[in-house]
Amino acid sequence: MLHQDIAEILITEEQLQTRARELGADISAAYADRAPLLIAVLKGSVMFMADLMRELQVPHAIDFLATSSYGAATESTGVVRILKDLDDPIEGRDVLIVEDIIDSGNTLDYLRTLLLARNPASLRIVTLLSKPARREVDVPVDWVGFEIPDKFVIGYGLDYDERYRNLPYIGVLKPSVYGGE
Ligand code: IMP
Ligand code: MG
Repeated sequence: MLHQDIAEILITEEQLQTRARELGADISAAYADRAPLLIAVLKGSVMFMADLMRELQVPHAIDFLATSSYGAATESTGVVRILKDLDDPIEGRDVLIVEDIIDSGNTLDYLRTLLLARNPASLRIVTLLSKPARREVDVPVDWVGFEIPDKFVIGYGLDYDERYRNLPYIGVLKPSVYGGE
């Protein structure tokens, strides 16, 4: 059982669905008469992307890119690598980066610079979660689902060592799971 490893549920399935609906409405309004390209950052953003795109009222395309993850660590190293690039050029497109969580900000800062260099018509960012207390780099974010405290969270796409992505809520792991007290 996965649930026995969870110390606390931070955001319930219902709260996540409600927020995806709200963000979908806001983002649809912002892109009225446009057809944005949603770029999800693998793998943590897949559930959020799937829910968000179902709430969009504007035509849109999707693409994916992957950056190096922390592996089994729960702290950012500050070093970002592209593991999988986009399928198509983004020049002249209205790009929306779909992120799972902003922690230090290093990943998004790197991606933003990388994608801006490809001359999109516009570049905006939506993140499901943000840990403001952990920010090292200031990244302009257009939409934030939830601001959360400085805790390592899992579920709804987010993993610890590739596990727990399937949980329908955002939870906090018991420290014993990653060798804490
Ligand atoms: P940043 O570069 O420090 O902002 O880290 C961003 C990436 O680290 C996210 O896209 C996640 O994949 C991962 N990450 C950061 N915090 C957490 C967490 O609490 N749980 C799971 N993954 C996290
Ligand atoms: Mg991860």
